[in-house]
Amino acid sequence: MKTSSVKELLASEKLLQEVNVKGWVRAFRSNRFIQLNDGSTINSIQCVVDFENTDEALLKRINTGAAVSINGTLVESQGKGQSVEVQVTNVEILGDADPDEVAKTILQPKRHSLELLRQQAHLRVRTNTFSAVMRVRSALSFAVHQYFQQNGFYYVNTPIITGSDAEGAGEMFRVTNFETNKAPLNEEGEVDYSQDFFGKQTNLTVSGQLEAETYAMGLGKVYTFGPTFRAENSNTTRHLAEFWMIEPEVAFNDLDANMDLSEDFIKYVLQYVLDNCKDDLEFLENRLLQEEKTKPQAERSEMSLIEKLRFVVDNNFKRVSYTEAIDILRNCKPNKKKKFQYLIDEWGADLQSEHERYLVEKHFKCPVILFDYPAKIKAFYMRLNEDGKTVRAMDVLFPGIGEMVGGSQREERLDVLKEKMAALDIPEEELWWYLDIRKFGTAVHSGFGLGFERLVLFTTGMSNIRDVIPYPRTPQNAEF
Ligand code: 4AD
Ligand code: MG
Repeated sequence: MKTSSVKELLASEKLLQEVNVKGWVRAFRSNRFIQLNDGSTINSIQCVVDFENTDEALLKRINTGAAVSINGTLVESQGKGQSVEVQVTNVEILGDADPDEVAKTILQPKRHSLELLRQQAHLRVRTNTFSAVMRVRSALSFAVHQYFQQNGFYYVNTPIITGSDAEGAGEMFRVTNFETNKAPLNEEGEVDYSQDFFGKQTNLTVSGQLEAETYAMGLGKVYTFGPTFRAENSNTTRHLAEFWMIEPEVAFNDLDANMDLSEDFIKYVLQYVLDNCKDDLEFLENRLLQEEKTKPQAERSEMSLIEKLRFVVDNNFKRVSYTEAIDILRNCKPNKKKKFQYLIDEWGADLQSEHERYLVEKHFKCPVILFDYPAKIKAFYMRLNEDGKTVRAMDVLFPGIGEMVGGSQREERLDVLKEKMAALDIPEEELWWYLDIRKFGTAVHSGFGLGFERLVLFTTGMSNIRDVIPYPRTPQNAEF
């Protein structure tokens, strides 16, 4: 017999059919009611065992965590809370789960802290919260591809191992084949990377942007969606050492078109989830509501999760220049009362997440796109404005998250780019190919990077980035 998923059965209107369903026992009550979940949906299906006619030894093996295959008849449910259930005719135990062992894990059906769930990340996907988050994450990935594919973009796979530092921030993980302490040295006593696997110093990519730019200048509209790595020692709820980034890059787009693209893209993927992940969002909305009850009133959100998503989809993002933002911040209450950790007193200051969050959560109360940042605090590749001191950069800031997107119009003028690189001591030999793009048919082009986990955070209402990726990589932590 064909196996049906729990999702299919719960949606089925064909009552009295014989069915087979396989999954994991979430709970077994009164020697009679199995709550079976197979991951296809947040909901479990109730399977009712005829315990009087079932072998005692078999009943003893129907334990929380066990994998089972159930044959039975789909019937209208007698009890509350579900429309259909399975009247069991046969239970086969596919894989046992010892109750004493289960009691030591998060499979035990009761409330566990998110921290405990992180320590058992291999099991947490069997909880409602994590299965919901991971289904939403999957739907978002699909929506990302769908958006770009429907809009004429090509998917490019930029290299994971690179010889360049795209962001120039020096936060790279080295890739080497040398054995620790046995790296050959050159005459100056420095490690001789010419003898290493690639014949040069290499690292894991921090961004696929530079390579994506070269592809945009041939395919027109491209996007990447892949893992990126940053060795920044930020132990926060917003940073991972390994995260997934989406980077569109478009030839002939200026910064305004780039801002339009980011806004349209984000709205599309959120709408996709609203349309396709209703059950999971409702569950996550409720979870958030419970979590917020433990917080003081002032810290609670005014909107529910789904209201927040709708709000973003339905309203324009506010576009504000860096200079305007600095004026707002300089004169705001927390700055005057010295409540910020980093006080804003002059133009040119780098914005910290406390400032970004003030702007979106307190001042504008909606997503904000900040643009035209001081050149000094942004990467070398951004296009210099006529004023000579700002660049065509943009950051999209989100409530509860801070920076969701970072992007820019790229410097397409060879001479200006060379000057910028020289000023920052970036050797031309390292990026000769990047400079070449400015020699052969250079043109205005723009792009951005969106941190996928930050998008999943916002969409699911979770509060720690470690809880929206299966196996988080953070400082001092690479278990699993
Ligand atoms: O602002 P970033 O550093 O921009 C770039 O890498 C550009 N090269 C992108 C481009 O223009 N193609 O990073 C982009 C986004 C951030 O806005 C943030 O959402 C996310 O990547 N991000 C991180 N997410 C999780 N953990 C980290 N450590 C992150 N660092 C950046
Ligand atoms: Mg950034």
